[in-house]
Amino acid sequence: MYQIGQPEIDAVTDVIRSKKLFRYDIGDRCSTFEKRWAKYLDVQFAHLCSSGTSALTAAISALRIGPGDEVIVPAHTYMASAVAVLAAGAIPVVAEIDDTITIDPDSVDDLAGPRTRAVIPVHMWGQDCDMGRLMKIARKRKLLVIEDACQAVGGFYEGRACGSIGHAGAFSFNYFKNMTCGEGGAVVTNDPLVSQRARCMIDCCGFYWTGRGGDTVPFIASGSRASELEGAMLNAQLDRLPGMIRAMRKQKKRILRATARTGLVPARANSLDWECGSHVMFTLPTVGQAQAFAKLVGCGICGNTGRHTYTEWDQFYSHEGGPHPAMNPFNFRENRACRKRYSKDMCKRSLDILNRTVMIGNHPDRSEADTAALIAKIKAAAVAVSGVA
Ligand SMILES: Cc1ncc(COP(=O)(O)O)c(C=O)c1O
Repeated sequence: MYQIGQPEIDAVTDVIRSKKLFRYDIGDRCSTFEKRWAKYLDVQFAHLCSSGTSALTAAISALRIGPGDEVIVPAHTYMASAVAVLAAGAIPVVAEIDDTITIDPDSVDDLAGPRTRAVIPVHMWGQDCDMGRLMKIARKRKLLVIEDACQAVGGFYEGRACGSIGHAGAFSFNYFKNMTCGEGGAVVTNDPLVSQRARCMIDCCGFYWTGRGGDTVPFIASGSRASELEGAMLNAQLDRLPGMIRAMRKQKKRILRATARTGLVPARANSLDWECGSHVMFTLPTVGQAQAFAKLVGCGICGNTGRHTYTEWDQFYSHEGGPHPAMNPFNFRENRACRKRYSKDMCKRSLDILNRTVMIGNHPDRSEADTAALIAKIKAAAVAVSGVA
């Protein structure tokens, strides 16, 4: 999705020339990005780290979620959303997705039990979760909300930035995201205490350089500090972001408008005017039709990516939740009362939707002519598959 060019080359070259590759007391690229990213999102605190997985883990632990707690995750997400729960010592419980391809708020409401402390809505493929309903349910059920905005970098939900609505948000800046620095991530929050604890999770020694900045007692955690090269690149990427999002949103709306009379059913959007627009998705009546459509258009099927659906999270079925039996949350005494039975058919409704939903990626560099050609392809495929069983 991303765009890269001379500004990124210049930004990284400047850092190398300056020889200031470390962030604290040496360089200022990471801290500049953190301030700018917090401003973009309209949150108080943003902390860079090495990946989306470390951002999620930092957010969950910073919120004091751990052994004895369940966290609800959607049936369709990159495994890291659920892995981060285990990394914090808690147990993931899997909820259905709905026709938006994101977590079904009703399923969250149904699943919330005595052990459930939090929910992780994932804005999957750039489609916004129904944050309005989810926040209401979270309030009713006393759940913390950690937004996984790794796939919706730069997108908004009804005027508020993805990642800024829950108690904490996590972003990935890996190779496949709307902004990239190769590998990277960020955790954001409005809570000063959560911010302090997240900093500790990201860099257990960070306090040596930056001071405690609050009452948090530093604790031991693994390091996932970002380098100035990443900070520099992200500053250049952030300059591009608003224009990119505008372009992808426009592309998505144009494709949806042009295909409105084909009989194709778009995945329902929770906030079409605000989302990042990175993907157009259609849910076909049958799996056969989805497969035929994907072949004709040259696009993917949500249920077939090989790594984004709970049925592919092998370690969950074998309860391999950590590197040592004593560090495996599935074995923790505190987690005895948590629900940790997973079966491949536990979210059948999600599988049915995912296996019938095709997704077409947008790109800010796609020309008007190429978009017109794509629309023609989609229309032709819609006609061609109508007779397929
Ligand atoms: C929804 C989602 N969550 C979390 C992650 C983890 O991010 P990272 O690969 O930067 O650790 C990804 C990465 O692809 C993702 O798509």
